[in-house]
Amino acid sequence: MDYSKLKQIAAEKAVEEVKDGMIVGLGTGSTAKFATIKIAKKIKDGHLKNIYGIPTSKKTEELAAGHGIPLLSLNQLFKLRTKNFERRTLNVEPRTLNVEQRTKNAERNNLIDITIDGADEVDSDLNLIKGGGGALLREKVIAQNTKRLLIVVDKTKLSGRLGEKFFVPVEVLQFALESEINFLESLGAVTNIRKGDDGGFFVTDEGNYIIDANFGKIENPAELNSLLNERAGIVEHGIFLNKLVDSVYCSSNDGVEILGVS
Ligand code: A5P
Repeated sequence: MDYSKLKQIAAEKAVEEVKDGMIVGLGTGSTAKFATIKIAKKIKDGHLKNIYGIPTSKKTEELAAGHGIPLLSLNQLFKLRTKNFERRTLNVEPRTLNVEQRTKNAERNNLIDITIDGADEVDSDLNLIKGGGGALLREKVIAQNTKRLLIVVDKTKLSGRLGEKFFVPVEVLQFALESEINFLESLGAVTNIRKGDDGGFFVTDEGNYIIDANFGKIENPAELNSLLNERAGIVEHGIFLNKLVDSVYCSSNDGVEILGVS
């Protein structure tokens, strides 16, 4: 089977988890595209009802709108679903919450029922590298607001350790480009500023640049995740730790295997 067909069967299998009435995060990239198109077809054929899609990029927004999927922005979703706006007035006392209350409140973040997105690399613990398509920032924002994140890949994306197959895309402020290159190189990476189709620097949906950082095999993804998170000037990066991930739909010539995060 060719790669495109493998991507399609993984994506379409994941779409089976989408049910009537769900809010669905729509991923970016050549694999997630098949899921978006399948969802659109099921809506059109009357097999899925009352679906709203939340796109993870302008490109996916265009695709989904072009195929007739009703869409909401993340802001519209939260405005519709979150009734408690008292935080907007400074007259109300902030609440001191214990761990249990915080955990319960955290469920408020999960307004998106399911998101189907691709990945560039998946390690044996189901940590991911994403962002080959340049949408990592919106993808991570959508992922952190999602009850179930389904990742759709073909088997070539699996590796023992992150970094074996793909570099880490790092989205940085234009203002901080050179200092972030310097920082990433100080961590041992070989860097490359991503270029767009016009030959100039690639600009993300949020107006930032991307540095593709080759760290080689990443021994400790959680540690690198923290180092990158702590650095001002880095807006986001393509390491998605497995705590964000629920299932990986992985296709091969033998069919689709569903790998779960334990
Ligand atoms: C987009 O920014 C990415 O995170 C994609 O999900 C990832 O690059 C996988 O893309 P493909 O499905 O095209 O390989």
